[in-house]
Amino acid sequence: MALAITPLENVGVEVSDFDITQTIDNALKSELVSLWNKHAILVFRGQNIDPKRQIEFSRIFGPLALHPLKETTSAEYPELFMLVNEPEKERYHTASYNGELIVGRLDWHWDLLYTGKPNRGALLRSVVCAEEDGLTGFADMDKAYAALDTDTKALLEKIEVAYCFSMNRRHMRYVDLEGYEPGPHSPTKPADLNYPDFPDVAYPAVISHPATGRKILKICDQFLDRVVAPHKAGLCNDEAVDLLERLVAHIRKPEFHYFHRWNEGDMVLWDNWNATHYATGTKPGVKRVIHRTTIEGDATLGRVLETS
Ligand SMILES: [Fe+2]
Repeated sequence: MALAITPLENVGVEVSDFDITQTIDNALKSELVSLWNKHAILVFRGQNIDPKRQIEFSRIFGPLALHPLKETTSAEYPELFMLVNEPEKERYHTASYNGELIVGRLDWHWDLLYTGKPNRGALLRSVVCAEEDGLTGFADMDKAYAALDTDTKALLEKIEVAYCFSMNRRHMRYVDLEGYEPGPHSPTKPADLNYPDFPDVAYPAVISHPATGRKILKICDQFLDRVVAPHKAGLCNDEAVDLLERLVAHIRKPEFHYFHRWNEGDMVLWDNWNATHYATGTKPGVKRVIHRTTIEGDATLGRVLETS
C-alpha cells in the first residue's frame, strides 16, 4: 500500500490517513523507512497510542537508545524519555529573550553532536501540549546544502568545523545573543546540570549521509566554535569567521525549516543524521508533556579532538 503524503511548509511531509494501531507489515515498514530517509521530517497527526505502541513503532527505524538520565525515563519503559515541564526543571531552563521569560528555548542542534556520534533519529509524541508556543523547529540540511553556490560547496569539502560543548549560552559564539539575558538559575557549566564536560568535537562541514549517501551541511549554531586549521583550506582566521557567519545566516533561512505547532496525539519523527531541530520554548508555568523515543545511531560522523 502506498502511504499518502502531503508536503509540509518548506520541508518534511505529513503522512496522512495513517493509523499507527493498524498492522504494519514489512512492505509498509520499508515504505516508512524510505520516506524518513527521503524527507527527514515525518509528521503523523491524531495518533491514539500508548507508550508500548510508540516503542514498537519506533523500532521500525532501528534499535532504540536508553536515555542515561534515569529520572527522565519511565520505570516501566526504559526506552521512553519523558519531556515534562515542571517547576524544578523550569528554574534552570528559564531565560529572558527581548524582555520575555521563556522556558526551554534551544538553538538549532543535532542531538549528541558533542559525542561525535549523533543518534540516528527520534520520535516525539505530544501527550499534553501547550496552548500556544512550545513549537519544535526542524531544518532539512540536505536542502540547505543543495542551495549553496558551487564555490562554497567546493570550499566546504576542505573544511572541518569544531563544536565546543557548553551550558552557558553566552559562550556559544554563533547563536543569536541579541536581547538574551540568562535567568538567575541558568547553568554556567555542565556540572550545574549533572552533565559531563565533553571535549571539543570536529565534523567535516559537509558529510555524506550514512544511509542515503546524500550530502548534508553539517553546520548548526549551538556549540559552533571555529574552523579547524583554516589555513589548510587557504583561509585566514578572519575569513574562517566570515564563512561561519555566512553559513549560520544560510541555515537560518525559513526555506529550510518546518516549525511544528503541537496538538495532542501528534507524532514527529526526524532523521537526526540530516535534520537539525530547535525549540521555541514556552512561557513559565505551562504544562507540557512529550514522550520521546530515540533511534540509536551506528555511525561516527565527527571526531573527538584531543584533550591533551
Ligand atoms: Fe534535541
